[in-house]
Order: sequence, then structure tokens, then C-alpha cells
Amino acid sequence: MSGSPARTIVVVGATSGLGHQAARRLAAEGHRLVLIGRNPSRTEHLRGELPSATVITADVATATGVSRASPRSRPAPTTSTR
Ligand SMILES: NC(=O)c1ccc[n+]([C@@H]2O[C@H](COP(=O)([O-])OP(=O)(O)OC[C@H]3O[C@@H](n4cnc5c(N)ncnc54)[C@H](OP(=O)(O)O)[C@@H]3O)[C@@H](O)[C@H]2O)c1
Repeated sequence: MSGSPARTIVVVGATSGLGHQAARRLAAEGHRLVLIGRNPSRTEHLRGELPSATVITADVATATGVSRASPRSRPAPTTSTR
């Protein structure tokens, strides 16, 4: 990691382009990632590429997609107590 503490970072649009490059860089820096894209085959590929990340298939232009991506609809992450 580049000296900064690990953070939990959400990248919307992580399946291609700028978001994909950002996700790869942030993963290499050791951050906890929540990665979002619409295309199921691309999100499946992303799960294989960055297995430590939480990858969500959701269209955030829709209420259903926003709900699917919401932390309240997912199990709470394990947190550090230090
Ligand atoms: N590329 C550049 O040089 C550049 C420069 C300046 C600004 N920008 C801007 O930066 C943004 C990204 O550019 P890009 O070239 O990286 O685009 P891109 O390759 O088309 O990537 C778009 C990403 O956003 C996701 N996405 C789009 N709509 C979504 C939605 N409703 N819900 C969830 N995910 C969604 C796509 O997921 P799926 O593929 O799974 O659908 C994909 O991962 C654009 O707004 C672009 O105008 C780009």
C-alpha cells in the first residue's frame, strides 16, 4: 500500500474504462472495494479478476439497482476494532 490506511471505496462503473483502471489500482493499494457495473458477464469477469472485492451487478439509474447496491440490503462488512 502507498502509506495511506486501507479504506472502503465504492467504484460505480468498474467493469470498463476509467472505473476499471481505478479499481485495479485501488485493489493493488490494498483498499476494500465495492465494485458496481450493469453487464452481468462483465461483473462476473471482474469477480475473477479481483476476488477480494465485493462485486455487484446493478443499474444505478434505476431504483431497483440503487436498492441492490445499498449496504442496507447486504450483510454488514467485517470491521476492524483497532
Ligand atoms: N475515457 C476518457 O478519457 C474520459 C475522459 C473524461 C471523462 N470521461 C467520462 O468518464 C465516464 C466514464 O468513461 P469511460 O470511458 O470509463 O466509460 P465506459 O468505458 O463506457 O465505462 C462506463 C462504466 O460505467 C458503467 N455504467 C454505466 N452506466 C451505468 C449504470 N446505470 N449503472 C451501473 N453502471 C453503469 C458501465 O458498466 P457496464 O459496462 O457493466 O454497463 C461501465 O463499467 C463517462 O461519463 C465519460 O464521459 C471519460
